[in-house]
Amino acid sequence: MTALSQTALLLELEPVVEKNLDRHLAIAKEWFPHEYVPWSEGRTFDGPLGGEAWSEGDSTLSDVARTALIVNLLTEDNLPSYHHQIATLFGRDGAWGTWVHRWTAEEGRHGTAIRDYLTVTRAVDPVALERARMTHMSTGYSNAHDQEMLHSLAYVSFQELATRISHRNTGRATADPVCEALLARVAADENLHMVFYRNLLAAAFELAPGQAMRAVADVLADFQMPGSGIDGFARKSVAIALAGIYDLRQHRDEVVVPVLRQWDVFNVTGLDADGEVARDQIAAHLDDLERAAARFEKRRAARAARQTS
Ligand SMILES: [Fe+2]
Ligand SMILES: [Fe+2]
Repeated sequence: MTALSQTALLLELEPVVEKNLDRHLAIAKEWFPHEYVPWSEGRTFDGPLGGEAWSEGDSTLSDVARTALIVNLLTEDNLPSYHHQIATLFGRDGAWGTWVHRWTAEEGRHGTAIRDYLTVTRAVDPVALERARMTHMSTGYSNAHDQEMLHSLAYVSFQELATRISHRNTGRATADPVCEALLARVAADENLHMVFYRNLLAAAFELAPGQAMRAVADVLADFQMPGSGIDGFARKSVAIALAGIYDLRQHRDEVVVPVLRQWDVFNVTGLDADGEVARDQIAAHLDDLERAAARFEKRRAARAARQTS
């Protein structure tokens, strides 16, 4: 069987996009960012309006909750780069185009809502946040496989679920019911996005099983969170992992494994030779992740024990 071209894949998957777009529009609930922000807690800042400058003590959120909120917001802020990527790859016509624009509009709410919350509650330094946004967006973003349709579908299937978990757990880490409700709402959107992309790749597994398996194996091998270009990301992501907001265990057990299970990768039939190799690579990757997650959990437990003694 010869490999399907990018154009052939787009055409073949178009009816699946149409079906899943209808499904998405039927279940996605309209919501309003302004309803999730406690506006009456807000105060005017210094600068042209002569209010009060931000200070650390303005908020009681923990350091790690603030860090996770910043990472999540900066990740959402890079939406123009993500839009550019999927618009270039999926096109702006037909059902693909309708999805690209609808998805972008939904994602646009996330950054708005989180920024409003952070500014009104004075949770983070607004000057540092704005500078970080400028730096981050000026760098732009492209994922490792941005020319390849199935790789991109595989990437976003994992990434949307990873983002869901990260928003949800960040909300919990703030211990602020208002923030938790906001991030739970955002997380619900991310889950629907994941389902959309996951269903598309499921259809690709029927259409071109070997190519789909290759895409999944390649994407898992070098998976990076979309915010990995954020200044100081390595340090921030260690803090986030230590706090159990997003760590290797969650990455493996709550993101990678459930998505692979939905595609039933270990029972897919009709693979070509490279597809079989790719599947073996996925299995080996799961084992590697298991070892790395266990190692991290052990180190984290030892660290916690040291801190209490
Ligand atoms: Fe989002
Ligand atoms: Fe999303």
